[in-house]
Amino acid sequence: MSEKKVSAVITGVGMYVPEKVLDNAYFESIVDTTDEWIRTRTGISERRILENGATSNLAAEAAKDLLKSKNMKAEEIEVIIVATVTPDMFFPATACLVQEKIGANNAWGFDLSAACSGFLFAYQTGCSLIESGKYKKVLVIGADKMSSIVDYTDRNNCILFGDAGAAILLEPTNDTSIGYQDSLLRIDGSGKEILNMKGGGSLNPPSHETVDKGMHYIFQDGKTVFKFAVKGMAEVSLDIMQKNGLKSEDIAYLVPHQANLRIINATAERMGIDKEKVMININKYGNTTAATIPLCLVEYYRDGKLKKGDKIILAAFGAGYTWGASYLVWGM
Ligand code: COA
Repeated sequence: MSEKKVSAVITGVGMYVPEKVLDNAYFESIVDTTDEWIRTRTGISERRILENGATSNLAAEAAKDLLKSKNMKAEEIEVIIVATVTPDMFFPATACLVQEKIGANNAWGFDLSAACSGFLFAYQTGCSLIESGKYKKVLVIGADKMSSIVDYTDRNNCILFGDAGAAILLEPTNDTSIGYQDSLLRIDGSGKEILNMKGGGSLNPPSHETVDKGMHYIFQDGKTVFKFAVKGMAEVSLDIMQKNGLKSEDIAYLVPHQANLRIINATAERMGIDKEKVMININKYGNTTAATIPLCLVEYYRDGKLKKGDKIILAAFGAGYTWGASYLVWGM
């Protein structure tokens, strides 16, 4: 790591959550559930829902928030990476729609599909573009309109998800003691049966049958995902800590994907990380897929809880399976 010439550092953040709130009482009125069950089994109290617009709106608003807070022009952005599983359309890429919405007239970009690990994979990709020396301003966005693929008659799933977008700006720094340090990322396609959306793609093109069978909704075996998530996230996080000579007391924050508070707590416990060092906002937003990790970073940074020099582990798991952990040192 020390032979790196530059490090990719986060120099700006932005976020967007829609105004409309769905609280647990709303779900009590549409499916057979209770506020108590949802809070104790998932840690979620409410989530935000985008009523008008699509994922590109969530992503573009997060990008605009970042640009405004940095007083920066969109023309300066060279690359836009949008991690999402709910693109506005199969094509063009959501990144193109964001480019147009924010006026990033000098950028290229693309979408990255890795479900709940999407932001982690996009962060690694963006950092590699910076470290290559070719790019100096890379915008990485995690955004998902999960309400567009949730079956609101299925109590196992509908209570879990929300809509949001969050963005980071990556720039190079010669101070390699800050910024991106390391990542351990994994995929395993044997998870395809456990967590998926079967309809609409080239395997099951849209038809009356696919719609009738609800194949355009999220399907998951929640229990299996739960076990895999805890094991997968804790293993890679411990591996990356060991590889970089980090003890749990060296870590300022664990930033876990926000899927279920019980998954988060069990992962932190396996890692030996104290509860107060775990970023949590699932209670307010539910699982916003690619947006959860950057949303935590933005909120904790803006609340003054995240300081330059803080050592952070990002950890995620998701459909694929996809999972991994990144180690970075906060640089703002
Ligand atoms: N309200 C009330 N009861 C519910 C319910 C709800 N919203 N959802 C499920 N239940 C019921 C089940 O039907 C089941 O009833 P049964 O025993 O009569 O069959 C019971 O609660 C227990 O279900 P179980 O699946 O064992 O619950 P759980 O503790 O595993 O919690 C999840 C279910 C989905 C919350 C949990 O497994 C989970 O969070 N998994 C990971 C999901 C995830 O993160 N997916 C995205 C990946 S990025």
